[in-house]
Amino acid sequence: MHRNRIERAEGDKVVPTKGIFTTRQMEDIARKRLPRAVFDFVEGGAGAELAIARNRRRFEEIALLPQALRDCAAASTEVTIFGRRYAAPFAVAPMGFADLVRPGTDRALARAAKEKNIPYVLSTAATTAIEPINAIAQDNLWFQLYPGSDEAMAARLMERALNVGVTTLLATVDIPVPAKRVRDRMNGLAIPLRPSLRTVLDVARHPAWLMRAALGERLGMANFMDSKGGMSGLAHAEFVSRQLSCPALDWRRIEAIRKAWPHNLVIKGILNPRDALTASKLGADGIVVSNHGGRQLDAAPASIEVFPAIRDACGDALTLILDSGVRNGDDIAKSLASGADFVLLGRAFLYAVGSMGLERGPATIIDMLREELLNTLIHLGCTTPGELNREFLWPPAAGR
Ligand SMILES: Cc1cc2nc3c(=O)[nH]c(=O)nc-3n(C[C@H](O)[C@H](O)[C@H](O)COP(=O)(O)O)c2cc1C
Repeated sequence: MHRNRIERAEGDKVVPTKGIFTTRQMEDIARKRLPRAVFDFVEGGAGAELAIARNRRRFEEIALLPQALRDCAAASTEVTIFGRRYAAPFAVAPMGFADLVRPGTDRALARAAKEKNIPYVLSTAATTAIEPINAIAQDNLWFQLYPGSDEAMAARLMERALNVGVTTLLATVDIPVPAKRVRDRMNGLAIPLRPSLRTVLDVARHPAWLMRAALGERLGMANFMDSKGGMSGLAHAEFVSRQLSCPALDWRRIEAIRKAWPHNLVIKGILNPRDALTASKLGADGIVVSNHGGRQLDAAPASIEVFPAIRDACGDALTLILDSGVRNGDDIAKSLASGADFVLLGRAFLYAVGSMGLERGPATIIDMLREELLNTLIHLGCTTPGELNREFLWPPAAGR
């Protein structure tokens, strides 16, 4: 490799950081730069990680049928969702503990989302609290709520979201129990935290990451620090994670949230067309069709394969958002052609930060995805993302 295409990482290995053109390259570089336990936390999923592989495979199996000689000189990726215009039909998915990748990750992603005009979804379990993130993302901020076992806690979070002016709330319903994440268990990242010797030694081999972590703010679920600020980081994380997964939850909680939340309500983590209909009947404005990026039920189908059935079940009554396995502009186009109005990406954004850092990573990936999507739209003869429909899916039966 040419010498000046190589930068000495702020990290510990000599890795190329210029000439990055795909999220796959970002992922490969992030894998080298991050301690293994951190990379595994981001990349890994439930069980045998079949759902993760399935998410990718199902996207790869779909092709898009181009149309020639349509005037697309004015093509644009802009879309309107929930009455607001955005630069592109994708957002940063909610991600807990993102600052493990690098202190400041939540803030950097929120800043780039604001600058590039896409939504940024802050997680209940984020490492940065909603108020400072709102100061950065402003009206590009959406908030994700885990309804959890403690209704009062959820109500307080909703109140804080309302107070800062959030108008789109995502209620995540696909963690009735914590998933079996084998990599995290092997690395000792599960709660209670007991890092394995291998993890400790591996972290020591990444002094730049370690230094940043040591100098950064104490990591925790910052949205809960007000109520349990006195607890140690670990006791706190354990306490919160017990609140978040709750097998007793049922649709009555969604009804209650619907009554309490005056703005857009989106139910995140739906795969079953019957559940999509229930969400619609209870007055939700949208759903995120998601298998949580393969991080919860390993036997779950891919979002992209159930999507047409969900669109058929609920027609135009709901705004339909898709996530899980989206890695490039073609995947976004395939999602929209399958009936999605909008798409979330999770890991891809963390790979961008892990590979290119806080300044360049988030802006680069947003530009890259937009450019890829625009390129694909023009090949398909479309001037807007809204023109995509199932007629572009190939083979014709794909995804139906
Ligand atoms: C590190 C990490 C943390 C996550 N934390 C949350 C969370 O706190 N709340 C939530 O609703 N989803 C969470 N998710 C799931 C994402 O919102 C999204 O559904 C998933 O990442 C999409 O799949 P993808 O990573 O293949 O794009 C998390 C995902 C990752 C990778």
